[in-house]
Amino acid sequence: MLRPVQGMFDPSDFPDLLVGLGDPDDAAVWRLSEDRALVITTDFFTPVVDDPYDYGAIAATNALSDVYAMGGQPFLALNIAALPPDMPAEISAEILRGGAEKAREAGVALAGGHTIQDKEPKYGLVAIGFVHPQRMITKRGARPGDALVLSKPLGFGTITTALKRDQADPADVAEAVRWMTRLNKLASQAASAVGVRGGTDVTGFSLLGHGWEMAVASEVRLRLFFDRIPILDGAKRYAQEWIFPGGSMDNRLYYSPHVHFDPRLDEASQMLLFDAQTSGGLLLSVPAEKVEALFANAQSLDQPLWVIGEVEQGEPFIEVN
Ligand code: CO
Ligand code: CO
Ligand code: CO
Repeated sequence: MLRPVQGMFDPSDFPDLLVGLGDPDDAAVWRLSEDRALVITTDFFTPVVDDPYDYGAIAATNALSDVYAMGGQPFLALNIAALPPDMPAEISAEILRGGAEKAREAGVALAGGHTIQDKEPKYGLVAIGFVHPQRMITKRGARPGDALVLSKPLGFGTITTALKRDQADPADVAEAVRWMTRLNKLASQAASAVGVRGGTDVTGFSLLGHGWEMAVASEVRLRLFFDRIPILDGAKRYAQEWIFPGGSMDNRLYYSPHVHFDPRLDEASQMLLFDAQTSGGLLLSVPAEKVEALFANAQSLDQPLWVIGEVEQGEPFIEVN
């Protein structure tokens, strides 16, 4: 959709636009000085869970994630909301409170926003952060020999779809909500501290879709080890019942030509790697010599991480073993 717009902004006219439409990434980056750049992003969506407070917190966590995915530290945010006029005011207030409390937890000042009326609720943030221009984490930063590291498990899309169909165990929903409201702040800080330069966050396009974007931008091949990829137990169970979000089906249609699965992996397992996540973890490409320091760093911050694969030389492709 952005294709007609992309050519309108010639990068040479905007030398301080370090990351823009010509080189799509998690957020735009604008250089302010030699050692400081602004990271700017926005994200909003319709409810993924029933509880309005959790919904607000998930939407805010997800919007801030794109700043963290660039290695940035968000400091300012604005609300974007579309709320049905007939929705009780207490519910709208809970959505906004969930988002605001998450922003505060992140150390981000919520400074305003804009709300319109709409039939279906929509909520999210505009988020602004700072990053050092030489320390950005981008989709182009993966190099052959790097380890691929993930900071949250997969399966949130599958679990929230089971919830929408009244087939979810509340304990599974609670577990998914805990992960979806977990900020990517510590994972990003741990990665930045050891000099990770390649990465993105795993959201609607799934591990394989966002992995593919990274493979293309970095001109590398990814090898994933299925048994090392963390997947929530509830999602595995619902996958056996073939409960998947529509987004996962779209992801499979779109990305499967770029992926080869080991034949021992059944279709349900494959679909879980196409899981359309909301507020997923960071997918980091970590130079081999920095893996140990990253894990030590993450452990001291109480941040779980999983090595799920490696980056190889070759035409962009994803091999799942
Ligand atoms: Co992103
Ligand atoms: Co996003
Ligand atoms: Co206004």
